[in-house]
Amino acid sequence: MPLEGVFCVSVLTVNLAENSYDIVIERGALASLGERCRTLGLKGIAAIITNPTVGELYGAAAQVSLETAGYTVARIEMPDGEEFKNSATLNRIYDDLLAAGVDRSSFIVALGGGVVGDVAGYAAATWMRGVPFVQVPTTLLAQVDSSVGGKTGIDHPKGKNLIGAFYQPRLVLIDVDTLATLDQHQFRAGLAEVVKYGVAVDRPFFEFIEANIAAILAMEPDVLIQIILRSCQLKAQVVELDEKEGGLRAILNYGHTLGHAYEALSGYCGMVHGEAVAIGMALAARISAAEGYCTPEEVARITALIIRCGLSIDVPQVDRQQLLNAIAADKKSKGGTITFICNKGIGRYAMSHHTPEELLVLSGLEA
Ligand code: NAD
Ligand code: GLY
Repeated sequence: MPLEGVFCVSVLTVNLAENSYDIVIERGALASLGERCRTLGLKGIAAIITNPTVGELYGAAAQVSLETAGYTVARIEMPDGEEFKNSATLNRIYDDLLAAGVDRSSFIVALGGGVVGDVAGYAAATWMRGVPFVQVPTTLLAQVDSSVGGKTGIDHPKGKNLIGAFYQPRLVLIDVDTLATLDQHQFRAGLAEVVKYGVAVDRPFFEFIEANIAAILAMEPDVLIQIILRSCQLKAQVVELDEKEGGLRAILNYGHTLGHAYEALSGYCGMVHGEAVAIGMALAARISAAEGYCTPEEVARITALIIRCGLSIDVPQVDRQQLLNAIAADKKSKGGTITFICNKGIGRYAMSHHTPEELLVLSGLEA
């Protein structure tokens, strides 16, 4: 059954006054990259920033599309992996931009998953005090979340995404066909962010995911387009109300407070982002029940859907003090207290305020 209000559109607009942009969601969209950049009035050199994995798969198609539209293309590669989302990689990208002659009249194309998107976006935000950029996300996680909303940045050894900028792309071009080459592990990790929207803000979407999980896991294009569209719609709605995360946008971090902590403790390479978010959501549901925001039955239903997505909710064994420190490094922490996002039933959110120690107790990790 199609998700109401979603099936008939393939272009959404994120309305942010002079920073507004379209999200195009289509099969085969990559071929239209160059033409769409021309329509937007982008000029100069098109600098594609990607990694070797995605460059090998889709770099040529992106380049041909841009060249066909008359652009000179520079290809810049960063190493593949969250462990390279750092200042050393960024500096090498600046070197490459300089060598390629990318100046203020040029633009950047981020071709890849969330890591490439975040780093290339931050390079665009900072290179020559800002050049336009286009997001071409190629993982499910990037298509439903990271490419939309303008959060760009790099990790610091002491915490994820601690350095960055809000910098909106000029276009998000989602080619659903690129998911065909994504391994199942990464695809399932992306589903964690899809489930997040259902649990925190949209009960009918949660129920749609439950009802269509087999088709989703089989990666049926029509159902993929629907979950990507709905996720982007929901994210756009929140970003339009609170672009710079003054308050409301924090709800998009449902499951991320504890998830980020476990991800950081895994050294950014033992566990991928979506897997950490899955564990964080299971714990957030338990904390929500302990706070009286949802019932044990709702916790069981949320947890069951996470598991049906092929994600583990097993909490890694880590050092207690390191975990507390990692939770305290959360960007929603102020004066030792963290704004924690709970689910109210399924499909609504509530914000509560706790110390890291209280979160461990409420989640049942500690008596
Ligand atoms: P990723 O970028 O590391 O990609 C995962 C793997 O898939 C990589 O090895 C990549 O090379 C490969 N890959 C990408 N596209 C492929 C394709 N089509 N076919 C085959 N392989 C492909 O991981 P991710 O999950 O996409 O992104 C995680 C990052 O996103 C984290 O750094 C996280 O902090 C960030 N993030 C940012 C936001 C935001 O709002 N900016 C939101 C959520 C997550
Ligand atoms: N992924 C959380 C946000 O974009 O705000």
